[in-house]
Amino acid sequence: MTMTYNELRNLWIDFFKSKGHTEVPSASVLPDNDATVLFTTAGMQPLVPYLMGEKHPGGKRITDIQKCVRTNDIAEVGDHCHLTFFEMMGNWSLGDYFKKEMIAWSFEFLTQKLGFKKEQLAVTCFAGNENAPKDEEAATAWRAQGLNDNQIFFIEDNWWGLADGGPCGPDSEMFIDNGKPACGPNCNPSCNCGKYTEVWNDVFMQYLKKKDGTMEPLVQKNVDTGMGLERTLAFLNGEGDVFMTEVFEDCRKKLEELSGKKYAENLVPFRKVLDHLRTAVFILGDDKGVPPSNTDQGYVLRRLIRIAIRNLKKLDISDFVLSKLAECVVDKYKTYYPELERNRTFIMTELEKEEQLFNRTINAGLKEMDKVLSRVQNELIDGETAFHLYDTYGFPLEFTQEIATEHNVKVDIDGFNKCFEAHQELSRKGAEQKFKGGLADHSEKSAHYHTATHIMQAILRQMFGPTVCQKGSNITPERMRFDFSFDRKMTPEELKYLEEKVNEVIQQKIPVVCEEKTLAEAQAEGALGLFTHKYDAEKVKVYTIGNVSKEVCGGPHAQNTGDLGHFRILKEESSSAGVRRIKAVLE
Ligand code: ALA
Repeated sequence: MTMTYNELRNLWIDFFKSKGHTEVPSASVLPDNDATVLFTTAGMQPLVPYLMGEKHPGGKRITDIQKCVRTNDIAEVGDHCHLTFFEMMGNWSLGDYFKKEMIAWSFEFLTQKLGFKKEQLAVTCFAGNENAPKDEEAATAWRAQGLNDNQIFFIEDNWWGLADGGPCGPDSEMFIDNGKPACGPNCNPSCNCGKYTEVWNDVFMQYLKKKDGTMEPLVQKNVDTGMGLERTLAFLNGEGDVFMTEVFEDCRKKLEELSGKKYAENLVPFRKVLDHLRTAVFILGDDKGVPPSNTDQGYVLRRLIRIAIRNLKKLDISDFVLSKLAECVVDKYKTYYPELERNRTFIMTELEKEEQLFNRTINAGLKEMDKVLSRVQNELIDGETAFHLYDTYGFPLEFTQEIATEHNVKVDIDGFNKCFEAHQELSRKGAEQKFKGGLADHSEKSAHYHTATHIMQAILRQMFGPTVCQKGSNITPERMRFDFSFDRKMTPEELKYLEEKVNEVIQQKIPVVCEEKTLAEAQAEGALGLFTHKYDAEKVKVYTIGNVSKEVCGGPHAQNTGDLGHFRILKEESSSAGVRRIKAVLE
């Protein structure tokens, strides 16, 4: 059977309407602020209050097609079926029908509407554990549809609920057996050998998982089902490859045109670009859409876009083409998701901005990555190095992981996360210190410039004594500006000496060490700092550069002075009475 995207959507909705369900629109892909998850990962998520007993305005039978984002499998994208965005066709019983009815409808939809043969089906049922008994009820309902016992598999993992608890229960998954020989005597639908493809999941939600992990019966028995639209479409049209379905067609062709390369010969980079870009469009194009950033949803978005950019490079595209591809995505989906049209300009502008931003550091970062890979030990990139790649070159963890995996190297994720958390704390403090520009921007250059100001201040004090101190600083990724107390113009010789001394410290490749101390400890050690600013007296960061410099500061900084490049003074001028200003660049 072949079927179009429209036909499949309509078939689903019409079928469940004919069974008394009310159609509701897809909820936002970005859940409400108080949600514990970043994205809507399943059709049931926006319905949790109703699964817990609240009355739904649409009644007890609901159906929809929900936009979902799941990025936990991001590393798997590149095969024929993994996606970070997908549409989930779903239906719910809110304390109404239960296993018998749902399994009968599942069988009817699969065989009569989608055209699968009874013999092609295989199903799994919950095998039972200390929380709940073996699901004989579900198995009996499948037998009543004519399935043989060798098509019904009892599996212990057949339990579904959100990671943070809430409504949950045993599930029954439906698979299509493609007729390949079994991989062994224990072959079953959950063994991933390729014999079975999952198409649908019926969850029988009759338990509530509490915060402490214990389980109690729910006030009502619910059904929650989900069928992946793209996978079903791929299966029905015989391709088995979600990227060959109609939903990706225009974008895939556009990418072939832009790259002059064929999808079939470049599967992995094509798939990564197609998947990640589509997800980015749905995150940006949501009415609650967020721009790329370094936190939460914005960070997920950033890493999707950056991985897409790297894969475009693999296809030898270094022009900015994301918005051209994004137009195809918006055009394909705008009928069903009019928010994409409403937010078209925002989508395109943000994609272009992110391309420009990443373009500044990606090439230097890829070179650094080559160096990291060449000196890697025990096939592991440590957390600090991974964090350095993030902090300095804008490589999200998954980005580094992707490259590492291609070289059979792993990344210390825990180590990275520790550095990342410490850094976010620093950024917060940095923002509180009201430094402009540089600190709000964690690009490679800004961190380097920040370290350069510390070195320069230290040398100026060596030259002119301790009355010289920082009066202000302004950093952009392009240059640094540093104001300091001094009451006359510096001579050309002094400027030359200052430049040379700063470059000497850079050449000495001194590690920049960050320690947490109390403010009193820091001051006792003679650390410099803008003590007019508000610090948390119990906890400040002290950055030490060998015996050259010690300053209280929010960071972020280079890890080593050797990363800074060549320091060059552009200008020295008066800033205000008794205050001089130096503009300088690192090149
Ligand atoms: N909520 C179920 C799932 O996501 C249907 O598989």
